[in-house]
Amino acid sequence: STDSTITYKEPFRNQFHFSPEKHWMNDPNGMVFYKGIYHLFYQYYPDDIVWGPMHWGHATSKDLVHWENKKTALFPDKLGYIFSGSAVIDKENFSGLGTKENPPMVAIFTYHNMEFEKAKKINTQTQALAYSLDEGETWTKYKSNPIINNLDKKDFRDPKCFWNESTKEWNLVLVAGDRAQIYTSKNLLNWKLESEFGQNIGEHGGVWECPDLFKLKINNEEKWVLLISVNPGAPNGGSGTQYFVGDFDGKTFTTNQKDTKWLDYGADNYAGVTFSNLPEDERILVGWMSNWSYGQKTPTKNWRSSMTLPRQLSLNKINDQYILQSTPVNSFEKLLKKDYSKAVLDIKSNKKLQFDYPSLNESQINFQTKAENLKLVFYNDVKDSLVLNYIKNKNEFSVDRTHSGIINFGENFATKVHTTVLKNLISDQIKYQIILDRSSIEIFLNDGLYSFTEQIFPNKPYNHLKIISEEDLKLKDFKVSAVNSIWN
Ligand code: FRU
Repeated sequence: STDSTITYKEPFRNQFHFSPEKHWMNDPNGMVFYKGIYHLFYQYYPDDIVWGPMHWGHATSKDLVHWENKKTALFPDKLGYIFSGSAVIDKENFSGLGTKENPPMVAIFTYHNMEFEKAKKINTQTQALAYSLDEGETWTKYKSNPIINNLDKKDFRDPKCFWNESTKEWNLVLVAGDRAQIYTSKNLLNWKLESEFGQNIGEHGGVWECPDLFKLKINNEEKWVLLISVNPGAPNGGSGTQYFVGDFDGKTFTTNQKDTKWLDYGADNYAGVTFSNLPEDERILVGWMSNWSYGQKTPTKNWRSSMTLPRQLSLNKINDQYILQSTPVNSFEKLLKKDYSKAVLDIKSNKKLQFDYPSLNESQINFQTKAENLKLVFYNDVKDSLVLNYIKNKNEFSVDRTHSGIINFGENFATKVHTTVLKNLISDQIKYQIILDRSSIEIFLNDGLYSFTEQIFPNKPYNHLKIISEEDLKLKDFKVSAVNSIWN
């Protein structure tokens, strides 16, 4: 059910986010930086625009902004479909799969065995390894797969492997239903289960998926962050990514955190994990910009879905709690054409300020202001509107896409307004960064203290923005920048 002409110009085709040339994509996989190149692999079904037998698609980038499509990297075989996983560079060749001069790029992923599933066996998922000696171009599956077997678990997947510089060992975190498991290895081939985390903490609306575990600095402290995607159970429905901040000694992850914390409060940032082999202070995440509640039904034709902009992660401490922040990577700024800016934009109480622009859908809007009631309405000439609303006395921010365009493709897409209480917002200023592409909006408040990622499908690009406030208000450093397409 696809057309033969792929242009990257189709309606709803995001212009500065990665999407596959054609067909179905879900989770980012095996993201690794090597020899100046960022590699993005992803869950891919090359025969249709819905989920199917999983492969790993592949794309590369020199700057995390422009992407080049590469050949499909991993194909399913008799051991199963190729589910999500990670990739590392085995610099010392501990695995023996390459040489020290040409270290192997090692991917560790989940096999999902369909034969077993059909035979109603429970243990359909195992962890396996493949390696590349030519920088991710071609791959060889390890001869003794699987490397981590499964005797009794239904859900057992999404291994995230990383080198632990403190213990000089490899670590791997995966999910087993309602918990994460942490493993150690010397050679990437033999793994020892060290600990489990999570049965009694966090959100368990569905099974846990796509974990990641990494260190971040905050002032003079070092903390470890465990990301866990869960579907369903997200704050605004369906799929979402929670995180825990704590400590990790190479074997066990512990935390004092009591409440559930979310990476993103929008509906469309799922299965996000970070790149390996980057310098320690560059912790960069990419998420799948969709949601399992309706992801297979979105109104695109040749391809389905895109990735979030790559985001730099950092830790903040507010009211004695660790908060994970995310902002678009700096290189994104290369795409901006400065078009309109004003040092101060005055909003008179109860007067609407209208701002017209040929296509707001390919732009970024920045400003900061006192935290007062403020409503932003993006709309077009065919009555589609997307409403962002901050309500001061409730300290509440909402994204209303219920009239944003095409919404009737899945019952769960536009059932409610997505509302978030901004508990951690303690300053009396709010800094807005809003990035609109043809079928997505990413909103970052106060440098990513809060982020909201949502898909939208306006019948025509939004060309008007209405700014409404009940008080007199000044928007400082108001800037609208068109964003260049990366697909020219
Ligand atoms: C998350 C997920 C993973 C799994 C993959 C299958 O979106 O369900 O747990 O490995 O997708 O495509």
